Amino acid sequence: MNRASEVVDFHVADRIAWVSFNRPEKRNAMSPALNRRMMEVLDALEYRDDVGVLVLKGAGESWSAGMDLKEYFRETEAQGLAGVRKSQRESYGWFRRLRWYQKPTIAMVNGWCFGGAFGPLFACDLAIAADEAKFGLSEINWGILPGGGVTKVVVDLLSMRDAMYLALTGDLIDGRTAAAWRLVNESVPLERLEARVTELANLLLAKNPVAIKAAKDAVRRVKEMTYDNAEDYLVRAQEAANSFDPAARKEGIRQFIDEKSYKPGLASYDLSKQKDRAG
Ligand code: COA
Repeated sequence: MNRASEVVDFHVADRIAWVSFNRPEKRNAMSPALNRRMMEVLDALEYRDDVGVLVLKGAGESWSAGMDLKEYFRETEAQGLAGVRKSQRESYGWFRRLRWYQKPTIAMVNGWCFGGAFGPLFACDLAIAADEAKFGLSEINWGILPGGGVTKVVVDLLSMRDAMYLALTGDLIDGRTAAAWRLVNESVPLERLEARVTELANLLLAKNPVAIKAAKDAVRRVKEMTYDNAEDYLVRAQEAANSFDPAARKEGIRQFIDEKSYKPGLASYDLSKQKDRAG
């Protein structure tokens, strides 16, 4: 467990890495220090054998109030273009790292989620919100457009009308509406949030990790491709996955067809048997 004073907190339990924005007194606004620390934490966790899923949550009543208006915007602008570009690289850098993370990721949105926080929200593969959470593009309220990739995030995830509504009005939506608009996968009452996220994480932990990484990247990559390019990419992505884990699909087929020990339509094959046989 990290020191509570750290701007990013994390611990690993039962193969789930729980990573928190940890500036509750500032509603978890992302400062340059937080952005730098987040990259270090993501680095440290990415290839650990005892980590199978990463959950990004917020300490206190917020998920994240977006970029820190004082430390990220005002103070870096005071340093001139070099300061601005440096802080942009630091924040966009960890968002990008998270989008292509080795392990599957879940955003556990417990409270406020504003502006720049839509970057990490989108970067996480799945997102579960509390019904009580509040989402908004507040940029328009303080006189800028939703930058830092945020406009791209809402256009990718939402209908044009809903994206436009958020961008132009700065109005808040709650977790239920966010789920209805497909900004998150689902919302549950706050008191059930951690249990639901744990359940989802455990579902992911039961799957073949090489296949999970290939599948999550494929979902993001093919969105930008023509059908033919996507078809070709998917063939090659599977062949690359085969080279990392040559036994996986054969074992999955064997347990269904020969052993009749599971049904792929209903659950995952037993990964431990694959390890036993390999060993
Ligand atoms: N940047 C910098 N500081 C922020 C911040 C942000 N994005 N969000 C909150 N804070 C700070 C406040 O300045 C305040 O600091 P202080 O205690 O030194 O005065 C502290 O966090 C608590 O915020 P406060 O506004 O008193 O909390 P609240 O619970 O009444 O309201 C919010 C919560 C999130 C609605 C409100 O803080 C807010 O509107 N934040 C800005 C959201 C935003 O526009 N983000 C930028 C998106 S790019």
